[in-house]
Amino acid sequence: MSYELTIEPIGQTIEVEEGQTILDAALRAGIWLPHACCHGLCATCKVQVLDGEVDHGEASSFALMDFERDEGKTLACCARLESDVTIEAEIEEEADAESIPVRDFPGTVTRIEALTPTIKAVFIETDEPMHFQAGQYINFFLEGGEYSRAFSLANPPSTGREVELNIRVVPGGRGTTWIHEQLKVGERVRLSGPYGRFFVRKSAPEALLFMAGGSGLSSPRSMILDLLEAGDTRPMTLVYGQRNRGELYYHDAFLALAAKYPNFSYVPALSDEPADSGWDGFRGYVHEAATAHFDNDFRGHKAYLCGPPLMIDACITALMQGRLFERDIFMEKFFSAADVQQVRSPLFKRI
Ligand SMILES: Cc1cc2nc3c(=O)[nH]c(=O)nc-3n(C[C@H](O)[C@H](O)[C@H](O)COP(=O)(O)OP(=O)(O)OC[C@H]3O[C@@H](n4cnc5c(N)ncnc54)[C@H](O)[C@@H]3O)c2cc1C
Ligand code: FES
Repeated sequence: MSYELTIEPIGQTIEVEEGQTILDAALRAGIWLPHACCHGLCATCKVQVLDGEVDHGEASSFALMDFERDEGKTLACCARLESDVTIEAEIEEEADAESIPVRDFPGTVTRIEALTPTIKAVFIETDEPMHFQAGQYINFFLEGGEYSRAFSLANPPSTGREVELNIRVVPGGRGTTWIHEQLKVGERVRLSGPYGRFFVRKSAPEALLFMAGGSGLSSPRSMILDLLEAGDTRPMTLVYGQRNRGELYYHDAFLALAAKYPNFSYVPALSDEPADSGWDGFRGYVHEAATAHFDNDFRGHKAYLCGPPLMIDACITALMQGRLFERDIFMEKFFSAADVQQVRSPLFKRI
């Protein structure tokens, strides 16, 4: 059983299988709709239903309020069709965006490495190579495919069939606890992707500023490795925050990159490092480190932010105080179920 979905204003009609979400059907058909969390939490994928019936699925009551449901709005990542449907979505052309249809990628776990006490690198060799833009993410199907969680791709696209995910265990989190405690090398798994519009605007001439916190390092790492491999000579700076030295993974690798490439600078920041540890780098949060490093003047940059919503919001405020505009700031927020009640930054139309 399937229904027809017409997407305005482009006027394209696609088939949607019973139980398939609007977002999944559109992305697999190569039509990009705005999205971020893919789990009904962030409201980025809100669309207007012009005609037909939808089931709102697991949309949270914060991301899709009752009055919005009454007005015919729905979240494309959760909504399933109950008839032929016409929706209207905000579809913006992006000069540097590649249109890569989402597909399923079965694969095998090849390695699991502890990067820090709370973060594991999981390497998965996919049966087919996955084409993606550095900065994008995948959905990882867990516990035999019962449900999925979003994880950013930490490797550059040139790596080939082995993708790398850096996964922080979330206390009380179902998926990350399972990955850290149960997932084994050799296990067959499934990914879908690539998702997201977090990628480097390569046609923009400005210097690049990457700001990452926690396990949000994956996308900036993929982007930086991709740019350096391609011989990009624009100045680029990574400001990377963790709580303490033990959590600062890939630190030596970034120091080595900074020594090798004169256009790459690396600014690590620790927010909770013991005073007597001998750490001589910056002490404080990512946004504070960036403000100090650039003397509160971010003009002439494109900024790419990746990490938990609170870190991103602090970085946006600091960047704007340092005279960077909304159009120069791009971000990937790691929404989780804990962020359900978090309202999106009013400074931005979309993520
Ligand atoms: C685009 C994107 C990219 C991401 N990339 C990464 C990445 O590269 N690495 C990474 O480690 N993470 C990443 N994340 C986060 C990841 O997808 C998971 O959300 C996170 O790891 C938690 O998953 P979980 O299943 O362990 O926790 P969940 O079981 O989903 O719970 C998460 C937290 O919410 C709490 N919680 C559960 N339900 C509720 C509720 N109803 N109300 C309030 N609190 C609740 C839990 O106790 C827990 O603390 C990304 C997220 C997004 C959206
Ligand atoms: S992408 Fe649908 S609510 Fe976040």
